[in-house]
Amino acid sequence: MSELVEVPEDKLSYAHPGGITALVSTVSEEGVNNLAAFGFHAMCSVKPPMIVIGVRESIDTYKNALAGKEFVVGIPGKDIVDKAYKCGDDVVDEFTHAGLTPIPSLKVKPPSIAECQSNLECKLVKMVPTGDHILMVGEIVAARVKKEVYAEDKIGMRTKMDYIVHNTKNVFMTKDGKEIRV
Ligand SMILES: Cc1cc2nc3c(=O)[nH]c(=O)nc-3n(C[C@H](O)[C@H](O)[C@H](O)COP(=O)(O)O)c2cc1C
Repeated sequence: MSELVEVPEDKLSYAHPGGITALVSTVSEEGVNNLAAFGFHAMCSVKPPMIVIGVRESIDTYKNALAGKEFVVGIPGKDIVDKAYKCGDDVVDEFTHAGLTPIPSLKVKPPSIAECQSNLECKLVKMVPTGDHILMVGEIVAARVKKEVYAEDKIGMRTKMDYIVHNTKNVFMTKDGKEIRV
């Protein structure tokens, strides 16, 4: 067993690998579609199914979700890592900028993302302030996955799904442990 090394106080957050990348779709009060990339992301309840995204107060995703009370979480696979990275750029229309396709969702106004492995449609439950991010908690009210990912059982569906972990900036890790620098 290898020895444990203490991480310096100013680097404590480096001791976490980063989260699975999520693309979050919202609609502004004026009806404009918005898409952005997130690494602060996790499931946080099974019954009811809930998901949490860490957002900064300054960004459009926060403002749109607060106003419209709905958002869609798309899970990109490694085939669209470059497009997912582009969703971190500060542009008006991220769908066009990143080359991603908005498609109508089943139960919420924000569009789903055709290229994602999974699309989880959410109703905003609450915003929970933390340090420099706000936890945007959503209840999943509908979900669709790519046909090749679908399975009747949880293990089947989760193990078939592709995803990318966001380590930092332009550095991602694939499900099979390969580093991708966009
Ligand atoms: C892979 C990746 C992960 C990111 N993770 C987060 C995050 O967890 N929280 C956050 O507030 N911003 C995160 N960002 C930055 C936002 O995507 C970026 O600020 C974006 O322009 C916000 O768009 P919006 O103003 O349309 O909401 C991330 C960017 C990238 C590329």
